[in-house]
Amino acid sequence: MGEVDFHLECIDCGAEYQADQVIYSCRRCGGLLSVEYDLSRVEANLDESWRGRALSVWRYRELLPIREDEKIVSLGEGGTSLNRCLRLSEDLGLKDLYVKNEGENPTGSFKDRGMTVGVTKALELEMGRVACASTGNTSASLAAYAARAGLECIVLVPSGKVAYGKLTQAMIHGAKVIQIRGNFDDALGIITKICSSHPIYLLNSLNPFRLEGQKTVALEIRDQLGGGVPDKIVVPVGNAGNISAIWKAFRELRELGLIEDTPQMIGVQAEGAAPIADSLRRGLSKVEFVEEPETIATAIRIGSPVNWKKAVRAVRESGGLVEKVSDEEILKAQELIARLEGIFIEPASAASIAGLKKLVQRRLIDRDELVVCILTGHGLKDPGVVLERFPKPVEVEATEEDVVRAIMPTEREAMKITAS
Ligand code: F0G
Repeated sequence: MGEVDFHLECIDCGAEYQADQVIYSCRRCGGLLSVEYDLSRVEANLDESWRGRALSVWRYRELLPIREDEKIVSLGEGGTSLNRCLRLSEDLGLKDLYVKNEGENPTGSFKDRGMTVGVTKALELEMGRVACASTGNTSASLAAYAARAGLECIVLVPSGKVAYGKLTQAMIHGAKVIQIRGNFDDALGIITKICSSHPIYLLNSLNPFRLEGQKTVALEIRDQLGGGVPDKIVVPVGNAGNISAIWKAFRELRELGLIEDTPQMIGVQAEGAAPIADSLRRGLSKVEFVEEPETIATAIRIGSPVNWKKAVRAVRESGGLVEKVSDEEILKAQELIARLEGIFIEPASAASIAGLKKLVQRRLIDRDELVVCILTGHGLKDPGVVLERFPKPVEVEATEEDVVRAIMPTEREAMKITAS
């Protein structure tokens, strides 16, 4: 089967646009755009087609908005593992906890799912240059996919607030990296204006094609659970594109009759950058932005999430919520999952574990529920936060005796061992 027919649609006024236009917001009302498929015309048994293909973004080809297969730019994205976490479950007081480890993607974050589709779209639209604003991961991913496609890449990042691992990636892949003296929100405002008036393709999550790639994480989770759907999906929120994309996938699966129930979407923000969590808690109908966002989880250090409307809909329609967590809670969660499960994640990803812990304690997540946490990025992206937190490893002379002395338990530790 070929692709399902699709077009762009404004989520506010419903205006429709053909999908071969370079457009980032509704021309009529300025609203966010969404890719919409004519799902009623899907004839094939999608599950059967999918089953014959490897777990990856492109396994779900029929639900991706690309017309020319030969233009696909891929680095082997998706197909990340869904790990059942017995030790972490026990610690948190849950029975059925899984984590989807998106750090396994080619550039170490979930952004690759979006970029394989977004950069392919850039080729289809014959754009020679691509650009984004980024807290780090988007720029690393775009730089890699642009290199693979032979496109010029421009990235704007907030000066001094991007983890070194991510900055290094953007640099080595040959992107033009520009540090601005401002935050992510400033950078996004600037690059959106530039891309609207120059032949440069914007690949932030305002770009609805990119989000289509990101929705595949939900399709994979369903397949990895043998067709099942979690009760709750917990996901860190910054610009709020990912939570919206994941929800869209579940809506489409329901519309296609491939699932009956949908999960509740739980977003987690960092306390110093929690405009959605705070606004929902106050019962506001619009999200009030945070002027000067701050958090150790630099990936989600965002005060004006452009996709807030899509995210609030995802949360409302799914019966979910948005929680916020402190930097200390984030760092503790990062250490907890590293020690109990052997999975090293960056602070923004740990926000999902920290949020989960809080919600279990408040009994907003039940012990018996099937929960999936999305771990969005690899810990090696940002080793600095760990180096700052832990004492330097001991250093001894290069002799057997010195090493033995160093690994033997101290008297206090020995007493503890005997006592237990
Ligand atoms: N987790 C990580 C590791 C991220 O890099 C991001 C976003 C998020 C979560 C939040 O996702 O924005 O869709 O709500 N990083 C962007 C970037 C902003 O530029 O790399 P979101």
